[in-house]
Amino acid sequence: MLVLGLETSCDETGIALYDTDRGLLADALYSQIELHQQYGGVVPELASRDHVRKIIPLIEEVLAEAGVTKADIDAIAYTSGPGLAGALMVGACVGRSLALALDIPAIGVHHMEGHLLAPMLEQTPPAFPFLALLVSGGHTQLIKVEAIGEYELLGESLDDAAGEAFDKAAKMMGLAYPGGPNIAKLALDGNGDRFKFPRPMTTKPGLDFSFSGLKTFTLNTVAKHVDDNGELEPQIKCDIADAFELAVVDTLVLKCKRAMKQTGMNQLVIAGGVSANSRLREKLEQTLTSMKGNVFYARPEFCTDNGAMIAYAGAQRLLVGQHASLAVVVKPRWPL
Ligand code: KG4
Ligand code: ZN
Repeated sequence: MLVLGLETSCDETGIALYDTDRGLLADALYSQIELHQQYGGVVPELASRDHVRKIIPLIEEVLAEAGVTKADIDAIAYTSGPGLAGALMVGACVGRSLALALDIPAIGVHHMEGHLLAPMLEQTPPAFPFLALLVSGGHTQLIKVEAIGEYELLGESLDDAAGEAFDKAAKMMGLAYPGGPNIAKLALDGNGDRFKFPRPMTTKPGLDFSFSGLKTFTLNTVAKHVDDNGELEPQIKCDIADAFELAVVDTLVLKCKRAMKQTGMNQLVIAGGVSANSRLREKLEQTLTSMKGNVFYARPEFCTDNGAMIAYAGAQRLLVGQHASLAVVVKPRWPL
């Protein structure tokens, strides 16, 4: 079965072709980051308009790359939530209409299920059951995964998501959006020992997270060190970035360890934009090795938003006979 995947939930138009026998045949991504950077975050209306501009050329690009035509597509998977309503509508309308025109099934995919299953596209995919840490710009969740569609939420952020905390801290430090990769880059030259950032909610039992206190701590640290022009010295910027990143990573690692002990599971999947973070990957590798477990993650470009994960997740659902009705439904808020 050849599945066309369409991802348009936020600021990336991701299109891919996944074949259930041959694997991933093609994927293309257009990132709107430059468009939104000048505003310091994603502007929903501009995002929708840019998806409209890019979606058809990208579909044509993946068809050409895979050497197939529209007539070869067996089904279409599009992200139907959660995300920005207008942006979601673009993928849902194009996906649903194309499926209607080609007389093939279509399915709306949960964006976070896409992230969760993205490591399945790698050479050594995880096997069910496993624990998953979903860390993106909108979510921070620990989930027990038994099978496709069998997800038990063990804990989640009570306020900001980990990626959101990276983005907000970066903004306070005068760094561009998205903050995660920019903080990670500066942290390489920083000495985080200089500051003692908190590890929120780690002394309390439970698997929930909270990152808003860390944000306030960053704001206060920045305020204490800026010069008369409101600027941070380059080295202090690197040191704050390092201390901040280490605090987020330590907190995530501690909760993963706790979840593994609580469930007795030692296979861990990390997914979502923040799972591209090298320090998080390294620390989890070390921790899992000492616990005789394994950690799985997608290649960096499949950690952030992409069409391949939607094509893959949609294919798994379509294989068991699920598909959407003709109605175009998007769910800007949608629990996994
Ligand atoms: O999964 P994603 O592309 O979009 C959402 O579904 O939200 O995640 C985007 C988030 C942003 O907050 C971005 O700052 C963060 O992932 N991110 C990172 C890194 N790369 C992306 N955070 C930390 N380190 C990174 N290397
Ligand atoms: Zn995402």
